Amino acid sequence: MIRALALAFFLATSVNAADLQPTKDAGPYVPSPQSVVADMLRYAEVGPNDFLIDLGSGDGRIVLTAAKVFGARGFGVEIKEELVKSSNEAAQKEGLAERVRFMKQDLFKTDMSQATVITMYLLPDTVNLLKDKFMNELRPGTRIVSHDYPLTGWIPEKYVQMDLEDKVQISGVTTTLIYLYVVPAKVAGRWSAQMPPAVSRQPATLQLRQQLTRVSGSARLDGRDVPLEDIKLRGDRISFKLTGRRGEFSGLIKGNSIEGVVQTGATKAPWSATLGG
Ligand SMILES: C[S@@+](CC[C@H](N)C(=O)[O-])C[C@H]1O[C@@H](n2cnc3c(N)ncnc32)[C@H](O)[C@@H]1O
Repeated sequence: MIRALALAFFLATSVNAADLQPTKDAGPYVPSPQSVVADMLRYAEVGPNDFLIDLGSGDGRIVLTAAKVFGARGFGVEIKEELVKSSNEAAQKEGLAERVRFMKQDLFKTDMSQATVITMYLLPDTVNLLKDKFMNELRPGTRIVSHDYPLTGWIPEKYVQMDLEDKVQISGVTTTLIYLYVVPAKVAGRWSAQMPPAVSRQPATLQLRQQLTRVSGSARLDGRDVPLEDIKLRGDRISFKLTGRRGEFSGLIKGNSIEGVVQTGATKAPWSATLGG
């Protein structure tokens, strides 16, 4: 334990010529306590079908645990040569080298499109610099788990707070937070919609505005604008109501189209929409 802490301190403060000079240093090497690693992975419901990328992978513990305990595949990116080397050695030693790998690579230049889960324990300003990259590269439904620092303006799916004595030497307090986010589909724009006749006899439109997970908008139905309310966007699923009218709309977003159902009491009817058009 003391040796591990000494190594962590040495690597946190040392600069090695073999290390990569990143576009931005996202924080020193401070490993997440192993109990937090387990909680992060459980919280994201990591399983054998997942591909996990740890941004700034340190000694590799998150990726290695995801593979060993939860059956996932994945990789870690890290700027410190020594850490990349020891992580790959650990993967070899534990028989995980076919499922995980570690690369000396700048996290800001890493292609994340393969991920179903992203994990990170980085400085607060850094996690926020990554929001556009997450929205542009990750598929809707991808989970992002952040240790301690939130993505400002992005409503978390859930978060948990706990006290851990191990954290005092890292951050000065016992408080530990884990945030879970789900990447939303991009829905902003004008959608041409086909509604059941009871909703609109004429071709309808939906006008949606979006900031990350927050969506607002209105529908044009038989020549009238009706605001949408209670809009929820989770991954590739959207639901909303029409203000002042009965019926709950839900839909599955597939790129530029939505296929859905409007439920009014016990009655269900299909609706669909196409972006643009
Ligand atoms: C706080 S540690 C977290 C280590 C590991 N993810 C964990 O939770 O145990 C952050 C790591 O990010 C690495 N790092 C910092 N900036 C980076 C960058 N631009 N690209 C890749 N790794 C980076 C650091 O060297 C450090 O090992």
